[in-house]
Amino acid sequence: MKVYRPVVPAKVNLYLEIIGDRPDGFHELATIFQSIDLHDRVTVRSAPSGIIRVRCDHPDVPEDATNLAYRAAALMAERFPAAFSKYGGVDLEIEKRVPVAAGLAGGSANGVAALAGVDLLWELGLTRADLCDLAAELGSDLPFCVLGGTALATGRGELLDPLPDVQGVWTVLGKYRSIGVSTPWAYKTYRDRFGADYARTAAELKARRQAAKSGEMVQAIARLSKGDRDALPVLAALMRNDFEKVVLPEYPAIATLRDTLAEAAPLGAMMSGSGPTVFALAPSHDEAEAIRDRAQSRLGDQDLDFWIAPFRCSGIGLDPA
Ligand code: C5P
Repeated sequence: MKVYRPVVPAKVNLYLEIIGDRPDGFHELATIFQSIDLHDRVTVRSAPSGIIRVRCDHPDVPEDATNLAYRAAALMAERFPAAFSKYGGVDLEIEKRVPVAAGLAGGSANGVAALAGVDLLWELGLTRADLCDLAAELGSDLPFCVLGGTALATGRGELLDPLPDVQGVWTVLGKYRSIGVSTPWAYKTYRDRFGADYARTAAELKARRQAAKSGEMVQAIARLSKGDRDALPVLAALMRNDFEKVVLPEYPAIATLRDTLAEAAPLGAMMSGSGPTVFALAPSHDEAEAIRDRAQSRLGDQDLDFWIAPFRCSGIGLDPA
């Protein structure tokens, strides 16, 4: 039996600006995604004809049709009915390593792993562009999970401008096991509190998108990619996440974690996506370990987990099965 293990890395957002409302009820964003070297182990196998099955070792991850990996396999079955009947069903086994509901696109990455795995299982030969189009139908973060590396995203997060690769930067990630933040809640609360500042006209939207595309952070990334290490503190100082304005006041523990990591890390710290994971940047693995140890000794909480992961320059890969 054929077995595939697509590797799809998690992400952090180095920059996240909520620009305005969209007619489809979503929000216009300008965000910079960065892949990190942290991923779940997803195994894709054939199952008996007509069946899609998801199994996951994490109690908080549903195994039914609400799981993004299940939805991804179902989308493939709908788009490629001849292959679905020729090759049979799909069995997806997910071993969670990326924290769940954390702002790191762990669920989105599982969806993309399912798309990529089914493509291999059914010998469809889809291109990255094909996978990106399918991914966009399943969620706003999924196209980036296909592409990976560093990219600026606009629209609802699915329109990607790849940025040059950044190497030699580590993240220290901290997350309280018992805290999860609902992304729809974070967007809704942001709209309620800051909707008055949204761009109102097409010209205003375009100008704010353009400002992000030609902004200082994109320039700092370009310098870093050429090996100019002086650009790292510049990039760190430019980090922004609009969700912090609604999530931190609502969750004091996340605010304390953010402050503690920021004190422990000379380059500073910030929340990723709609949270609750907070990450600090570090220029080396040793420095990342020192930051983690300092934060851990200051907070010392049983409920708090830390991970260390370097920036990663690519999206989908394949583990030997
Ligand atoms: O696309 P995704 O499934 O990640 O979106 C989850 C929820 O987050 C959406 O239902 C929507 O409420 C909100 N969202 C948004 N604007 C975006 C992305 C997501 O309002 N650009």
